Amino acid sequence: MNVFTKLVLKSSILCAGLLALPLGAEPAALQTCISCHGKDGVGISAEYANLGGQHEAYLALQLHAFRSGERKNAVMNGMAAALSDADIEELAAWYAAQEWITADNGDASRVELGQNSAGYCHACHGMQGHPVANEWPVIAGQSAPYLENQLAGFKNGSRYHPLMVNVVKNLSPEAMKNLASYYTQVTRAD
Ligand code: HEC
Ligand code: HEC
Repeated sequence: MNVFTKLVLKSSILCAGLLALPLGAEPAALQTCISCHGKDGVGISAEYANLGGQHEAYLALQLHAFRSGERKNAVMNGMAAALSDADIEELAAWYAAQEWITADNGDASRVELGQNSAGYCHACHGMQGHPVANEWPVIAGQSAPYLENQLAGFKNGSRYHPLMVNVVKNLSPEAMKNLASYYTQVTRAD
């Protein structure tokens, strides 16, 4: 993507934000998130997802799924229960506009093994862990323990998506660790 396209995209994201909230204004509900995700979306624990710079439509979909209970996590089901549709829109826009970081907190000795088994992931998550679809998550640079938990969650059914269910069917816990260690150190390329 060239610099011009990036600028156009950035400004359209800002404009979309303007429709909901004055520029830079914090969503009221943000106060309930910062103890775990910070204002900038950097999780205070490795098991908490990093949210800053994540795709906006994906974030909104996950908050709806936590609220309805379709995606199961005791903490997040509780957090999302009180959110209105407008809160969800504002929070997704806020975190999507923050900077994405590369957590790089996996096991370095597993990176190569993970890379060797990531071929199948590229089709949907992109060559650099950054999918084209706004509804699909960026996984490059995400926290390794969080990534590993999600793969396990798709396998044990606490989380469901028709596409990911097929992906994890044949993944062993070791393979999940390897993939998480690989993706956490990939630098996102937009
Ligand atoms: C007490 C800690 C805590 C608080 C407060 C909290 N979260 Fe979370 N959040 C978590 C944990 C833990 C996870 C990982 C859940 C899992 O493993 O499925 C998570 C995951 C998420 C995800 C999923 C990210 C992804 O990549 O799929 C989103 C989105 C999210 N939180 C948004 C929020 C928002 C918005 C708020 C405020 C309304 C909030 N959280 C408040 C702990 C918290
Ligand atoms: C056929 C398309 C497809 C393939 C192939 C695929 N994914 Fe996914 N992946 C998705 C979609 C769609 C989601 C969003 C699921 C949701 O909304 O809950 C997702 C979500 C995830 C998540 C959750 C991220 C988060 O922030 O919570 C992880 C981790 C993940 N994929 C890893 C992988 C890995 C590793 C591979 C390769 C072994 C892979 N995926 C292959 C489509 C795919």
